[in-house]
Amino acid sequence: MDFLTFPLLFSFFLAFAYVIVISGRRNFRLPPGPFPLPVIGNLLHLGDKPHHSLATLSKRYGPLMSLKLGSRTTIVVSSSNIAKEFFHNHDPFFSSRSIPDSLRVVDHDKYSIVFLPAEDQWRKLRKICKEYIFSVRRLDANELLCRKKVEELLDHVSDCCTNQKDVNIGEIAFTTVLNVLSNVMFSMDIAQYDSVSSQEFKDAVRALMEFAGKPNIADFFPILKPFDPQGFVRQGNVYAKKIMTIFDTIINQRLQTRSSSSFTQTNNDVLDLLLNFNQTNESEFTQNDMRHLFFDLFIAGTDTTSSTLEWVMTELIHNPEKLKKARLEVIKLMKNKNDIIQESDIFQLPYLQAVIKETLRLHPPVPFLVPHQAVCDVEINGYMVPKNAQVLCNVWAMGRDSKIWSCPETFLPERFLEVTIDYKGQDFEFIPFGAGRRICPGLNLAHRMLHTMLGSLLLKFDWKLGGNIKANDIDMGEKFGVTLQKNEALMAIPLRL
Ligand code: HEM
Repeated sequence: MDFLTFPLLFSFFLAFAYVIVISGRRNFRLPPGPFPLPVIGNLLHLGDKPHHSLATLSKRYGPLMSLKLGSRTTIVVSSSNIAKEFFHNHDPFFSSRSIPDSLRVVDHDKYSIVFLPAEDQWRKLRKICKEYIFSVRRLDANELLCRKKVEELLDHVSDCCTNQKDVNIGEIAFTTVLNVLSNVMFSMDIAQYDSVSSQEFKDAVRALMEFAGKPNIADFFPILKPFDPQGFVRQGNVYAKKIMTIFDTIINQRLQTRSSSSFTQTNNDVLDLLLNFNQTNESEFTQNDMRHLFFDLFIAGTDTTSSTLEWVMTELIHNPEKLKKARLEVIKLMKNKNDIIQESDIFQLPYLQAVIKETLRLHPPVPFLVPHQAVCDVEINGYMVPKNAQVLCNVWAMGRDSKIWSCPETFLPERFLEVTIDYKGQDFEFIPFGAGRRICPGLNLAHRMLHTMLGSLLLKFDWKLGGNIKANDIDMGEKFGVTLQKNEALMAIPLRL
């Protein structure tokens, strides 16, 4: 080999490699997005309210945008057309999940309906939810029970009224939702309104939601996972174990009761149905499967529903003429009934429904949905979404898209009286519960709880802001997390009629 041959061969190899890379890139064009910095990528673009920052960026780069969050490719969806491409036209390819490291506690990611890939075990859990928990028949069967919990809520508010105490709306909603769920699942109350005894459970649920929502370095640099740099897994483990211990105790007590000689009748609640499952089905549903399912349902169902009620009341107190209109509708329907709002009344309350939809448009509790993940390379609108990319659907931005909604920043429930848009996953401009196969399985229960709680609170009381604050000065700030909470708790004064 003379002294020229090696450099020539090497140059030829480089040119060949370059052509391969460039031609490969042409077929692998990521959606546009801001230029990533070395190592940290676009992390600094997130800010403390990522749903706002990404909405602003998408105005520049478009509704299909790509970012690099540390070493993770992240695709951000910000329009109804693109959302339909992902969660309707290509739904099977995006039905996997990216799992926040902080939720790998108590091995939860291995059993969780929220985080399992859309394969056999997940399908089984969805089927159980559909048939045993959220079917119309099961929800109807639980109507009296839910009604009792709403009556207890009203009794508590009435006591506050008598004692001239402000009401923390988010807190009482959380207690009510927790008790509805615990009665549907176990035929018992887990929480009390004025007692610290149930505080441990509530705090643990909230802490886990908070950890899951906080930016975690280990999610952006998976190589750091074993070190748990911010301690989220360690702390999350403590809370998760507390919750699991409560479920274990309840399940074991029930097993004991069922095995005693004096046992005659089942409660016919979800726990009983699941314990019977193995007798009536070929496939097995273990006690471990059960506790992880309860874990998910309580975590996913409480903060979302209670923070929605807090935002609805905030918007109504902030807009007194809308509050009056909603109350008049409820009072007119119920004037001859001497009763509270029941589930069968909901369809006769179009303005109440519109108020809840408008709140979910402006304050979707899960602003990015639960992050999805691409199971393979998928081409969307001429761009490539690579396998394992995390997909964030910015429903917060979609709810404020001026191409879809007139005066998008204004609380205007009337807009929903003129159109048939609903949140059941068919209208992609409005998907606060998600869409496609990962759509929220608790949607119908949440729908019933929200309308009966809100309708009854409006029927029995008028409301004004606590602490001598004027309606105009109400705090509308948000706190970002898995759920979009109010920055300051809403303290309201109930006025008896
Ligand atoms: C998933 C919203 C109440 C159980 C979800 C998702 C959203 C959502 C956005 C993710 C959808 C996606 O990734 O595409 C809400 C809202 C609620 C609510 C806005 C109330 C206002 C509930 C309730 C329960 C529940 C009451 C059960 C008691 C679940 C579960 C999942 C889920 C288990 C995971 C489903 C899966 O990954 O297959 N929810 N949710 N949610 N929700 Fe809800």
